[in-house]
Amino acid sequence: MLDAGAPPPADRRLRVLVFAASLRKDSLNAVLARLAARQASRHGAVVDLASMREFDGPSYDPDTETNGGIPGGAQELNRRLTANDAFIIASPEYNGSMPGLLKNAIDWASRFHPQPFHERHGLLMSASPSMVGGNRGLWALRVPLEHLGARVFPDMFSLAAAHKALSEETITDARLQKRFEQNVDAFLDLAEAAKNYPCMKRAWVEFLGESPDMPTDREEIT
Ligand SMILES: Cc1cc2nc3c(=O)[nH]c(=O)nc-3n(C[C@H](O)[C@H](O)[C@H](O)COP(=O)(O)O)c2cc1C
Repeated sequence: MLDAGAPPPADRRLRVLVFAASLRKDSLNAVLARLAARQASRHGAVVDLASMREFDGPSYDPDTETNGGIPGGAQELNRRLTANDAFIIASPEYNGSMPGLLKNAIDWASRFHPQPFHERHGLLMSASPSMVGGNRGLWALRVPLEHLGARVFPDMFSLAAAHKALSEETITDARLQKRFEQNVDAFLDLAEAAKNYPCMKRAWVEFLGESPDMPTDREEIT
């Protein structure tokens, strides 16, 4: 039987922002982001595929912020995160960490209230020509995102030798392609459950080690 109070089915679909943290025209991470976007669409999510160019901007400057000059890229990242339930970032690894432009975008976006990463579910992935696949950069990227209260999915996907392992259609190795699809699907399942079933949200908070009592609670209890 239909619950008259329930939102229409379309509202229950997960909305997910997907982008690669690279400005390079032939970015490997942008290819990986497009594969993730396609998999998320197949899974039934509403995908918002963005380009890092939309979010890039000048270095964070407190004086600029004080004078009300928040750059357009930061405003756009805030707007797009807020309009979506979850995000997927495909990020290059630069010198064993995340690219400066991504950290800069996160710093700017963190200045909005409400802060847009808080309680949003995130999946991290990387592609690199190296044999480590950019995975160290993702561990670095977890730090500011988790600091900001994002629910960063435990499993991350890093593609090594990506210049040979990737095309617009697929990851060449069928087993890796399967693992990639499973990783994206598992993330979307959890984010969907958190969106539509608040009890799952509470379980996730407990999993992170926060006891659900009022003084320490970061989840919204209605
Ligand atoms: C400044 C700089 C630092 C880099 N450091 C690393 C690194 O630490 N680890 C790595 O795997 N690749 C590193 N690379 C290579 C990048 O992984 C490679 O350029 C990759 O293609 C960038 O991602 P994109 O294709 O999405 O732009 C670095 C590249 C640059 C320009």
